[in-house]
Amino acid sequence: RGKPLCVLTNVCMTDDLFADSEAAPAPDAAPSARYQELLHTLQRYAHAYYVQDAPVVPDAEYDRLYQELEQIEAQWPGLRLADSPTQRVIGAVLAGFAPVRHAVPMLSIRTETDNTPEGARAFDARVRRELGLEPTAPAIEYVAELKFDGLALSLRYEHGVLVQAATRGDGETGEEVTANIKTIKQIPLRLFASAALPIPQVLEVRGEVYMARADFDALNKRQAERIAAGQKNERIFVNPRNAAAGAVRQLDSRIAAERPLSFFAYGLGAFVAADGSSDVAASFGTHMQILQAFKAWGLPLEAHARVAMGADALVGFHASMAQLRESLGFDIDGVVYKVNSLALQQSLGFASREPRWAVAHKYPAQEQLTTVLAIDVQVGRTGKLTPVAKLAPVFVGGATVTNATLHNEDEARRKDVRVGDTVIVRRAGDVIPEVVAALPEKRLPDAQPFTIPSHCPVCGSVAEREPGEVDTRCTGGLVCAAQRKHAVLHFASRRAMDVEGLGDKLVEQLVDKELIVDLSNLYHLTLEQLLGLERMALKSAQNLLDTLEQSKQTTLARFIYALGIRHVGEATAKDLARHFGSLEALMAADETALLQVPEVGPVVSHSLLLFFSQDANRAIVDRLRASGVHWPDVEVAPQTSRLQGKTVVLTGTLPTLSRDAAQALIEAAGGKVSGSVSKKTDFVVAGSDAGSKLAKAQELGVTVLDEAGLQALLAE
Ligand code: IVH
Repeated sequence: RGKPLCVLTNVCMTDDLFADSEAAPAPDAAPSARYQELLHTLQRYAHAYYVQDAPVVPDAEYDRLYQELEQIEAQWPGLRLADSPTQRVIGAVLAGFAPVRHAVPMLSIRTETDNTPEGARAFDARVRRELGLEPTAPAIEYVAELKFDGLALSLRYEHGVLVQAATRGDGETGEEVTANIKTIKQIPLRLFASAALPIPQVLEVRGEVYMARADFDALNKRQAERIAAGQKNERIFVNPRNAAAGAVRQLDSRIAAERPLSFFAYGLGAFVAADGSSDVAASFGTHMQILQAFKAWGLPLEAHARVAMGADALVGFHASMAQLRESLGFDIDGVVYKVNSLALQQSLGFASREPRWAVAHKYPAQEQLTTVLAIDVQVGRTGKLTPVAKLAPVFVGGATVTNATLHNEDEARRKDVRVGDTVIVRRAGDVIPEVVAALPEKRLPDAQPFTIPSHCPVCGSVAEREPGEVDTRCTGGLVCAAQRKHAVLHFASRRAMDVEGLGDKLVEQLVDKELIVDLSNLYHLTLEQLLGLERMALKSAQNLLDTLEQSKQTTLARFIYALGIRHVGEATAKDLARHFGSLEALMAADETALLQVPEVGPVVSHSLLLFFSQDANRAIVDRLRASGVHWPDVEVAPQTSRLQGKTVVLTGTLPTLSRDAAQALIEAAGGKVSGSVSKKTDFVVAGSDAGSKLAKAQELGVTVLDEAGLQALLAE
């Protein structure tokens, strides 16, 4: 076997390739052969699982072989190899990181200034100019890749074995983080050999360590639990990159192992081929060939990298990846273009330590710094007080942001955002903007922590937070103008009374001018009153009165929903209407009667009882009906219907019934239509082209009917 490689290369690790070989008893041939076989099999399985996302055996089988391997290593320590999966977490706590001088410097790349897709043309134009190409010369072949938002890493393999992992550092000298990097299961500890691709003597793989968003969320959830349990030294991470950087530079590799990192390879550092030649271009020809070799050796690659011919293809790549960005599962901050031909890369060379053959083309940043001008407290329909940070306007994620919700008292405390603070604001895709964190080091000395007010900022009523609740609420009810405005908007909304044209600006004026003190006033508005409001012309005022008149004819379910009773959404309103058949019956129901309704539990029944126990609410209901609001009686479904209280899922196209018709029939028979299949589903009605819902039903053993089967149940 000769000398361990690290002795020759000066990059020894704590445990070398043939650890313990002197001390251990010589193994006999049988366990040695079995050991090799197990190692090989486990490495294949792990690659399929972690790199290809396509497991080939159940976890239990992997675990079984892993335990067998552990047993052999315990019995014959001399057999243990550095690339054994047992060697990923060795539990060493380092005093610091050793410096590593990179054999080939880790350069950074120039960033294209124009971050619209068209910005890609400038790069292509520069490359063509540098190469002295005529405008008529054929398009240049590029490789377009994602620009991962993590941290750069260099992995050094000697004769196929991972001997060292180093951070970028200043590009010349980085830090040795091998123990932590070995915990990343996607990174092979030994390259896969293949007949076509001999293992190089030296291979430095450059790539990016990152943390997947799901792993980041799970990590922060765990961190929050630890903090809640009083663990002082834990913290919440601001973003996946920050969490990944913390894990890579963690001196205790057991802690690093708890922080799930991932890796994508994207480039080559030092290289010595199997035959001793270091001519990269002779071995590979193109950048894409390098990536393909990485893949064959078992290294993880990102799947969107592709060859792009000329500027148009780069523009297209930038635009299409922008669309995908939110659904990727990991953060990117842009894309990278590289000239594919290594010969052309060589002739382009470098300009002030940046390669002329590559460029980063970024997307608008999703995080920016700004300052908190104020923290307002808004009052919602149900009286909920929501602290909202008013921000100095900042352009982030493609839009100008001036507000970000802090959700509730606990959230505001947890983030400890204070007026005057410098904060990180994040806006990703269409997600509402959020304050990620405040920067305490930039805090003004007199900044006060936020406290939720004890009184409603709109009406001055007492604000209460009930034990076990996260929200603080104004107790003013409809006395509170803020709640009144929301109540009117909700009442008028499309799925409630459907009064088109009654928007927030109008409601604001109506409530502020006390033209609407309670909901019933809506139906007594006059043309004259409306004409006295801002931006109200004769035609729109008359239209509004007409729509109000039309809205009086409604259904019981819509009316119940429109009242805006806490916890009573559209579906519950439908259940209640169907069950009680009339408003009188609902208003007369006691708790026992309410709990008879499928889907109504103690919370909803309490809320209904509270609402109807208040004289003011009953009076409003009476006045609304006196103003002409009416609905046809609802036929109460007979208790004997086979569909009474059942949950049905519709999927595929039924031969005669439309979706809406089937739903209406099921609901009329006292059933409920739901959009997704679960254990609680009673029936799945499947038509042609039924897809995953049908499969799920079969998997869960839910009864599946066709249209005829449904009709039979309805007829029973
Ligand atoms: S290539 C000589 N490709 O972005 C070329 N870099 O300055 C070296 N990055 O810190 C870089 N994704 O960590 C390259 N697909 C990708 C990349 C990528 C992310 C990072 C890299 C470096 C910075 C570029």
